[in-house]
Amino acid sequence: MNLLYVGDVMGAVGLEVIERELPGLCKERSVDLVIAQAENVSDGKGTTPADFKRMQAAGVDFCTGGNWSLHRQEIIPALSDPAQPIIRPANYPSGTPGLGWKYINAGGGQVLVVSLLGQIVGKDADKPMDNPLHVIDRILEDQKDVPKVATVVNFHGDYSSEKVVIGHYLDGRVTAVVGDHWHVPTADARVLPGDTAHITDVGMCGALDASLGVTYGSIIPRWHDGRQTRNELEATGCRQFNAVLVQSNEQGLAVAVKSIRRTW
Ligand SMILES: [Fe+2]
Repeated sequence: MNLLYVGDVMGAVGLEVIERELPGLCKERSVDLVIAQAENVSDGKGTTPADFKRMQAAGVDFCTGGNWSLHRQEIIPALSDPAQPIIRPANYPSGTPGLGWKYINAGGGQVLVVSLLGQIVGKDADKPMDNPLHVIDRILEDQKDVPKVATVVNFHGDYSSEKVVIGHYLDGRVTAVVGDHWHVPTADARVLPGDTAHITDVGMCGALDASLGVTYGSIIPRWHDGRQTRNELEATGCRQFNAVLVQSNEQGLAVAVKSIRRTW
């Protein structure tokens, strides 16, 4: 089957980008399942139910999560409902609302999708997170007897070392390990020796002439002069779309992976 993983959809510009790109791309590449990172879709912070619906209307079948997933209370019922295709990271401490993995039907069977948060993520580095390696081991063990056509693990993290190591750690056990959160794509998409597709970071969808989607005007005074500024999302200028396309086999492993980057 052909799985498309779309990088962080950043704000209203990100939504416009996927609305423009997904219909044609999915047709052109015979995509069976579109998974996209939704933690930044609502003004950069979290996901409102309306924006979740807009992601789905644009062609996204399943939304992964990251450090902003729990920012908006109104999305928690969807995060907690196994039938709603949206998750938050699985390695939040027990008792955290929402679910960190779910199944979705695609490609003639069930696809297991999991999000994990890196243990060192920007300002959230001091928050208590469960070890993502322990958590994914537990999920894969608990789900090992459930028939599935593919397993996609999203790793939302800051450290390239963590993002590379988890690919190796899961090689041969899952279809794909896709890193995100940086918003800058890496050039290392490949099928690992055990037939797991991996990329350190898939990049983002949204404004190109910006600091990860945020205006330079709100970032530079903070950095240069130590001023307290609010992040304002860039609404003008060039756009970018970043994704990876993974082709999987009947064993639920990867046979090919390709980065897709479009700018205009
Ligand atoms: Fe993030």
